[in-house]
Amino acid sequence: MNVHAWGVKDDDRGPPFNELLGVAQRGLTLKPKRLPSWLFYDERGSALFEQICQQPEYYLTRCEIALMAEHVESIAAALGNEVRLVEYGSGNARKTGMLLQHLHDPVAYVPVEISSGPLRQSVARLAMEFPQLQLQPLCADFSKPLRLPIASRAPRRTVLYFPGSTIGNFENRDAIEMLRKMRNEMGDAGGILIGVDLKKDPGVIEAAYNDHAGVTAQFTLNMLARLNREIGSDFELSAFSHRARYNPMAGRVETHLVSRRRQQVKVGRAKVGFGEGETIHVEYSCKYSLADFAALAAKAGLAVVRVWTDAQQMFSVQYLVRTSLAAR
Ligand code: AVJ
Repeated sequence: MNVHAWGVKDDDRGPPFNELLGVAQRGLTLKPKRLPSWLFYDERGSALFEQICQQPEYYLTRCEIALMAEHVESIAAALGNEVRLVEYGSGNARKTGMLLQHLHDPVAYVPVEISSGPLRQSVARLAMEFPQLQLQPLCADFSKPLRLPIASRAPRRTVLYFPGSTIGNFENRDAIEMLRKMRNEMGDAGGILIGVDLKKDPGVIEAAYNDHAGVTAQFTLNMLARLNREIGSDFELSAFSHRARYNPMAGRVETHLVSRRRQQVKVGRAKVGFGEGETIHVEYSCKYSLADFAALAAKAGLAVVRVWTDAQQMFSVQYLVRTSLAAR
């Protein structure tokens, strides 16, 4: 394990070639074909995601930031003193800065991020802004088992921060498993502060994933460009298109890459055939009612103790603790 500038622990500077090749080959032999959404986040994908967040249609980031600005004092009070804050998928950690400013005597901040560029930059910025705070960045995939660093000062509680509605990228079963893992990680006295996108007008949701400038389409197609670069596949980007549709029954945006024609693609030593219109499923973005999410949390042994929303009730930030603790 190497330690780089700013003490970023490089568990994995991106998955190794063999793992990526295996993931791609396995996913493309499934019927229907599917590739995992974490493949989006190479350096370019992370930069494109930042751009998505600035598109007028992508309300999620704007609403979450507005919500944080409005409620940050009450959120900080709910978390309490001497918190060790662990963030999953910290990206540029913009919302985290707002939170850290209002936390009372935080013990440490542990950003876990798969993309090393944004991780380094955000840690450099936070080190300037919070010189007293122990920063313990970890470059890793938060969906895999983690070995989190221990803070030098004993925290009163560990709070896992999971903003951005990233939980929405997991299917029901996987979301429960993820929440269970977080529940274990935070310990008895811990909590989870989580961003959850809410159900709303399907037109508004669908537009957020089909921005007029086409940034989301580039983001989706970048997955194929990444595979071409990193495993030497030969996807022709112009032969695929982005498709994101809201499925109101399932309460989720379903994003696919669609083959524009019959074609064969080389993936390692394998050839993968596509029919015209055949799809690769690449992402779910689940949307919840407050009741939906409370039920999901309950299945992971967690109780929702606080909910904050923006003025338009577009987005929520929720504080979860162990069910046993909430009952006391
Ligand atoms: C950051 C994963 C929550 O699903 O809304 C944005 C990713 N995908 N546009 C989301 C994403 C397409 C985003 N998450």
